[in-house]
Amino acid sequence: MKTGKLVVMASGAGSTFKAIAVAAQSGELNAEVVGLVVSRDGVGAIDYAKEFGIPYAVLSPSAFANRELWDQALADQVAKWQPDLVALAGFTLLIGPRFLERFEMQVVNIHPSLLPKFGGQGMYGLKVHQAVLAAGESQTGITVHYVTGEYDRGPAVAQKFVPVEKNDSAESLAERVKDVEKEFYISVLEELFMRKAANKPTQQH
Ligand code: GRF
Repeated sequence: MKTGKLVVMASGAGSTFKAIAVAAQSGELNAEVVGLVVSRDGVGAIDYAKEFGIPYAVLSPSAFANRELWDQALADQVAKWQPDLVALAGFTLLIGPRFLERFEMQVVNIHPSLLPKFGGQGMYGLKVHQAVLAAGESQTGITVHYVTGEYDRGPAVAQKFVPVEKNDSAESLAERVKDVEKEFYISVLEELFMRKAANKPTQQH
């Protein structure tokens, strides 16, 4: 018996989504990935959804008259899958209030820095690591946090430290962070599912 249902939301290559799907398949993550939402067509994450037989939906804001309708459609779609948790995996758009009301404290994100440092709108990919180097930091890391209506500002669930080496470039630093972030995300998701299962009332027979 899987401990819970997970929906993933992605906008890009989908390597994080793939790692989550592999972990769910192998049992490393004791959850079922019940759906994927992508914010645009043609992204790599869709190929992985097909490969793993995971239902997916493409919900692009440009297909809706305004952002509120997109927000509502996103909430309706994800609600159909009845997830216990929603994991953002490279989802680049700001989630709207309707979605967040519906899934309060059920949505998490992974960010490749020690938030609140080096987060916020536009801070993704190499830009994060360039900023870490420019600030002369001796360590960086990864943050898994709850998602709120502001980019990268929700309460942290867990953080992991990653050292900055003397001769690091943004690329080498990005590699070192990438090497550990998927495993870390999966272990934090597993922990969250275990906590949720422990808090669920036992079923009456
Ligand atoms: C990851 O590095 C994650 O930290 C950030 O977005 C990236 C997603 O990469 N939030 P991918 O699309 O899963 O390959």
